[in-house]
Amino acid sequence: MTTTVRGAADRVLGYPDPQGAAELRSSVADYLRRVRAVDVEPERVVICAGFTQALSLLVGVLDHPVVALEDPGLIGRDRVVAAAGGSPVPIGVDRCGIHLDRLADLDPSAVVVTPTHQFPLGVALASDGRAGLLDWARDGRLIIEDDYDAEFRYDRSPVGALQGLAPERVAYVGTTSKTLAPALRLGWIVAPIPLVARLTELRRHSDAGGPTLDQLALADLIDSGAYERHLRRARRRYRERRDRLITALQRHLPDAQVDGMAAGLHLVVRLAGSQDSARIVPAAESRGLAIASLERYRFGRHRLGNPEPDAAAELVLGYGNIGADAITDAVRELAEVIADGPAHLPARVSGLRPTPRPGPPGGR
Ligand SMILES: Cc1ncc(COP(=O)(O)O)c(C=O)c1O
Repeated sequence: MTTTVRGAADRVLGYPDPQGAAELRSSVADYLRRVRAVDVEPERVVICAGFTQALSLLVGVLDHPVVALEDPGLIGRDRVVAAAGGSPVPIGVDRCGIHLDRLADLDPSAVVVTPTHQFPLGVALASDGRAGLLDWARDGRLIIEDDYDAEFRYDRSPVGALQGLAPERVAYVGTTSKTLAPALRLGWIVAPIPLVARLTELRRHSDAGGPTLDQLALADLIDSGAYERHLRRARRRYRERRDRLITALQRHLPDAQVDGMAAGLHLVVRLAGSQDSARIVPAAESRGLAIASLERYRFGRHRLGNPEPDAAAELVLGYGNIGADAITDAVRELAEVIADGPAHLPARVSGLRPTPRPGPPGGR
């Protein structure tokens, strides 16, 4: 960053380009074309403050913003959609993919999906689901592709982005929140051409654009190759954590089933027998062990007045914020909690929850 500031010409110290610094749009376009098979020129790229702002901007440029959100999915997207003037509606998703028939019934103008690695279920959308979704988006509907963690696939290369198959029907969204840090608030939209000018204007009038120096520093990082070197190292680290987590689960919770592909920074564990995640999660928390139940990521169930829990207790375990050495102890503690085990020593472990996102007091 210091180098970026020293090298900055006067022009970059004025108000930013609300579409994003040309240097970063060009670096991001090169990177996404190569790594994610995105159909992109810098003209299609709008730099934004991560997925959250991307969603807000995209809702803001829709004519009739009824927006379907995967259920289960990332917490808080419904509020972002509502705050941007849209109406969020839940659309079911399971291990076989998004419920396309419901999409036809609900008839939203846009749908937000995580096709490369569904959050939180951890599955990829199969090719017939991808084709069905693209077909649904004919006639002016929009798919918002949240490609939040595609860089982290451990057994093979991830499938290419959906956007590459239909660039006028898909707004692709990427973020540095998983690859670098959520604190950066930097991401990008690759938008259908007709939306680019509207997105840029909306960004201009919402916050006058993002900090140019941060964008130039990221462009440098990508162009120098340091970003991809960092990703290769991070991939190795996260893969090791995932392997340790699976080994520890096999050892301490041998009857539990691990779901989801070898990717990302979390996995889903389905517990054997009749377990209640409403008991397990707070009990684990009281030992300093942050985990989440799959229930936590469902919003449709509560909205639709059907708060019945799932028959099987499913836990979402994140390994982005825990060192490899702490994982085995954390899982052993978790197994004790599940077994309603013996009194224990004070908490020593923490951090198996997918990246915590701050919410309002008393929020879900
Ligand atoms: C499903 C999903 N989408 C997007 C994001 C990133 O959001 P943002 O870029 O606003 O930090 C996350 C990070 O937690 C996520 O889990």
